Amino acid sequence: MTEKILILDSGSQVTQLIGRRLRELGVYCEIHPSGKIPPIDGSVRGIILSGSPCSVYDQGAPVIDFSLFKGKLPVLGICYGAQLLAHCFGGKVGPSGSREYGRARLSIEDPGLLFEGIPSSTQVWMSHGDTILSLPEGASVLASTADVRNAAFRFQGEPTYAVQFHPEVYHTTEGTAMLRNFAFRICGCKGDWTPASFIESSVASIREQVGDGKVILGLSGGVDSTVAAVLLNKAIGHNLTCIFVNNGLLRKNEFTDVLASYKDMGLNVIGADVPENFLSALKGVTDPEAKRKTIGRLFIETFDCYARKIEGAGFLAQGTIYPDVIESAGVAGASKIKSHHNVGGLPEKMNLKIVEPLRMLFKDEVRRVGRALGIKEELIGRHPFPGPSLGVRIIGEVTPERVRILQDADDVFIRGLRAYDCTGMGLRSASDPSVEARNLYEAIWQAGVILLPVKSVGVMGDDRTYEYPVVLRAVVSTDGMTADWVHLPYDFLAKVSNDIINKVRGVNRVVYDISSKPPSTIEWE
Ligand code: XMP
Repeated sequence: MTEKILILDSGSQVTQLIGRRLRELGVYCEIHPSGKIPPIDGSVRGIILSGSPCSVYDQGAPVIDFSLFKGKLPVLGICYGAQLLAHCFGGKVGPSGSREYGRARLSIEDPGLLFEGIPSSTQVWMSHGDTILSLPEGASVLASTADVRNAAFRFQGEPTYAVQFHPEVYHTTEGTAMLRNFAFRICGCKGDWTPASFIESSVASIREQVGDGKVILGLSGGVDSTVAAVLLNKAIGHNLTCIFVNNGLLRKNEFTDVLASYKDMGLNVIGADVPENFLSALKGVTDPEAKRKTIGRLFIETFDCYARKIEGAGFLAQGTIYPDVIESAGVAGASKIKSHHNVGGLPEKMNLKIVEPLRMLFKDEVRRVGRALGIKEELIGRHPFPGPSLGVRIIGEVTPERVRILQDADDVFIRGLRAYDCTGMGLRSASDPSVEARNLYEAIWQAGVILLPVKSVGVMGDDRTYEYPVVLRAVVSTDGMTADWVHLPYDFLAKVSNDIINKVRGVNRVVYDISSKPPSTIEWE
């Protein structure tokens, strides 16, 4: 049984960072809303309570049923978590007299296990409106700052600790060391969570969940669904059937190339080659949301049609990853809740049980698992690609001719990025920052071409032309939430522009998008 730490989320914007730090230490953890504590079985080694935008006195502020674990398991309350511990056990929480945001110096009086090996004066990051004015009976101060007397405390006689600052954020210099002390010294974790151990335990749990049942999975060519498929294939072999849909909006040659790689990997995959269905449904549709909906609906219809042919299919597998789960679940007090297409939708219609082997992994962990499964780097290192494919990169109406123009221009751009040697330029790989990027494609997080609906004048030979401009887009990002445009070398831009205009019929002008997100977005629609 994989040992784990539960993080009970009360809606802080940085809860995911607690998870990240623990995973980096090799400790498996799960984030759950603080109002929905999962069964606490023998695998749970400790509990961390996150911060929250709420005050403990707010109406509807998150509450936690401490009777389930306090005194029985190690606990670390962070910020709101610390205030809630003080408030619920007889301490006093109130508005702070002075501003408690930003850097502060922590003076450690009683290092104990939590601050073992940490300098007695160290920088921490504070971010709270309320403060703990007095501690519960039986609790003692471990550390203070100039403005916050009870910056860290513990309950005597039990492994319950609390800190009002944020150890998970980068600005808390010794934050990782504090979390390491909590996980290893206080909770007794071993820190042996690795991609290989994840694969071993996932294969076992997939077999347990699915038994001899049949599973279907929609492959997109992207990293998540590919890793999910290979993991399931390892667990249940030919009881897994994958469906890869050609919607006519994939990159040039992508359907045949990726289908061939899937077959090479030994996957039982059906290619649903139905571009005409999508292109005819998109005729005359120009509104971006209407395009997305049309493509989404057609995808479900296609998938449904092929899946029904698989006799006895009882399970639907999805490549849902952790950020999708967290964004879709939502937590009381959290300020933004987003729905995601992977979670919900298909199953109600099809009456299948869901299998989501990657639902507890972050993107970079999915890639590490994929590498450990032996998936080729060309697939693991692929740039993210939007679900509606090139449909959202053809501004205006999607026609077969305009798809052809965009596929050709995109092909020149992506091949050019792959061919541009950048070894020795000191660029890191976007999909694995621990290694150097060998070419521009690897250094970029996402790249593509956008086809505009306007035409402009040009001259070719002795003739005047009146054709489309295309936009090149290349960004670096960590999660797509924010992004910076990439400073592509001028010689590369010059060559790629020349190649596109010379080789792609229908294009006479190339521009480069130099907008960051925010305020722009990565895609144009
Ligand atoms: P934006 O354009 O919002 O994109 O900055 C952020 C990331 O999301 C991808 N994207 C989509 N993915 N369906 C998807 O599955 C969509 O409709 C969609 N729109 C944008 C985009 O490619 C980028 O990686």
